[in-house]
Amino acid sequence: MNNEIFNILAIETSCDETSAAVVQNGTKVLSNCIASQIEFHKRYGGVVPEIASRKHIEMIDTVIHEALQDADCTFADIHAIAVTYGPGLVGALLVGLAEAKAMAYALNKPLIGVHHIEGHICANYIENPEFKPPFICLVVSGGHTHLFHVKTYHEYEVLGRTRDDAAGEAFDKVARAIGLGYPGGPKIDKLSEKGDADAITFPRSYLEEGSYDFSFSGLKSAVLNYINQCKMKACDINHADVAASFQASVIEVLVNKTINAAKALGLKKVALAGGVAANRSLRNVMKKTCDKEGLVLQYPSIVYCTDNAAMIGSAAYYEYKHGVTHGLDLNAVPNLKLGYS
Ligand code: KG4
Ligand code: ZN
Repeated sequence: MNNEIFNILAIETSCDETSAAVVQNGTKVLSNCIASQIEFHKRYGGVVPEIASRKHIEMIDTVIHEALQDADCTFADIHAIAVTYGPGLVGALLVGLAEAKAMAYALNKPLIGVHHIEGHICANYIENPEFKPPFICLVVSGGHTHLFHVKTYHEYEVLGRTRDDAAGEAFDKVARAIGLGYPGGPKIDKLSEKGDADAITFPRSYLEEGSYDFSFSGLKSAVLNYINQCKMKACDINHADVAASFQASVIEVLVNKTINAAKALGLKKVALAGGVAANRSLRNVMKKTCDKEGLVLQYPSIVYCTDNAAMIGSAAYYEYKHGVTHGLDLNAVPNLKLGYS
């Protein structure tokens, strides 16, 4: 399949976005349709799994239809069907899986199950196919915080991970505490611009010497304590300063551990992935530090950082090239692992 055109119709329903995309040969996105459910979840302050599954059922046929239309394709132009089968919310994953399996069976095309985090990592190839493994990838999303050594297009080694909250979860919880609503990450990102990152010194958790693991629960508690103490003393809280100081604390640790890993492994390339990789300050600080250290930095456009099916279509291509396809008995695996030996 080296010089041939290979179009993958990819589906992503692991959390609260219903998405379908057509991706050609791993990097050329012919379409990428995303139906966000944020409006339905924000009144509850987070994703409600049962609502997510129901909304996926309502939207899935429409986004697939739109993805084919936008790509100017029919099913006859599609060579394989890809779908996220984990990790994620089991009911949400099952909607995408049932749809993908039905299409693979009816159209007699290969089915490729994709790991959601592998999708986030492969989002980096979409806009820059010249960016190739090996590299260090910091994956920071609502449910995951992992530092990976990406050895090849299908070999991953976990160097570190969060021991408690994911980075995105910390953003969302702190945003809720200062009354910004859900999802908090983009709101903290915006509000931080008006704040002073040095106004409040929040803790930086580096854990044991040389560890690439993360911990954000202490920082989250420190922010909540700061807010409670201000309330008890009836003093004004500068929300922008809290947001900027919290964000600076998260980013300092993320950036330093990523750079340390690249240096320790002698790798010259670094990538960001996942919803929190959309954070402008993280992108800026990582870029400045990589420049200083002589490292190349790659990160996806914002639309490919947060959940989308194009990244699943990209990862599926590399898995397929490596010989991976799945049977129609493929099941959802809510805690699917990547890169553990
Ligand atoms: O990757 P993603 O869309 O879903 C998961 O796989 O979890 O990530 C969603 C997370 C949320 O926690 C959201 O608050 C965070 O990414 N996020 C951000 C930004 N945009 C999204 N966090 C910080 N700054 C942003 N600009
Ligand atoms: Zn995600």
